[in-house]
Amino acid sequence: MSNAQPANASAISGIVVKPMTNALGAEVLNVDLTRELDHDAVRVLKELFLQYKVLFFRDQDLTPEQHIAFAMHFGDEVQKPGFVPLLDGYPQIRRQEMNEYSSASSDINWHTDDTFLEVPSKCSVLHALEVPNGKGDTVWVNMAAAYEGLSKPMQEFLLGLTAIHDLVETMGPGVLKQYGPDRWQKFRESTPSVEHPIVRTHPETKEKCLLVNPLMTFRIKGLSDPESKAILDMLYEHMTKEEYMVRFRWEKHSVAFWDNRCTAHRGINDFFPAHRLMHRVAIADTKRPV
Ligand code: SIN
Repeated sequence: MSNAQPANASAISGIVVKPMTNALGAEVLNVDLTRELDHDAVRVLKELFLQYKVLFFRDQDLTPEQHIAFAMHFGDEVQKPGFVPLLDGYPQIRRQEMNEYSSASSDINWHTDDTFLEVPSKCSVLHALEVPNGKGDTVWVNMAAAYEGLSKPMQEFLLGLTAIHDLVETMGPGVLKQYGPDRWQKFRESTPSVEHPIVRTHPETKEKCLLVNPLMTFRIKGLSDPESKAILDMLYEHMTKEEYMVRFRWEKHSVAFWDNRCTAHRGINDFFPAHRLMHRVAIADTKRPV
């Protein structure tokens, strides 16, 4: 990908862009997200978002209102609540908290947000309220670069395939063990499986992007179990190569803003039993992935 700034980024708004890796990610300086952004700043941020896929900002002491206002520049609606608790008084904000009471093994595997839904979220804005010193980084991968990095025959093979995403199949055994059959049954009824193409086309950049992940993808439709497992395992190993990755070290009041249509990410839980508190606003998409 190109690391060049959009032609007029700094001339228009004073924004400075520091690309993070060749694959994706850029730190954006000289933007105060606590203020209402002007039209030009929003336009430049939209360009940067499409170019770098995940943008990082430091020292943004956002109120919940400012957090929501920033996120709402990039879509019309907040994604409906899922399984993550909400911030009291702010149904738009998911409160992601880990501490000494969270399980030591509550690691979150690689995923693209909400692929268990028919319409996964478009993008997310994650704001760090409390972070353990030097721990709890998050990593993202560029799923367009990962697709491009496959051989042509493999790209063509994948283009015809559909994956079944089913949180009950991937996480249900844990729910059954921890909460019993009644909770599992409710989980099953409220969370039907959905199908997505294994390769989607980004609606704005038109890049082809992989759309599978170990947290929510259950199997590949039409293949036998061993075939499906072999292909998915190969894709998970491939897409999480360092070549496609950026790793972000959080500080208090850092913000990450990512394009969920062309990335996958993983929060690294190396900080148990320390306290980590993040607020997230996820923006809804308008169409199913195609
Ligand atoms: C997530 O996995 O959705 C959030 C990432 C993080 O908390 O680091």
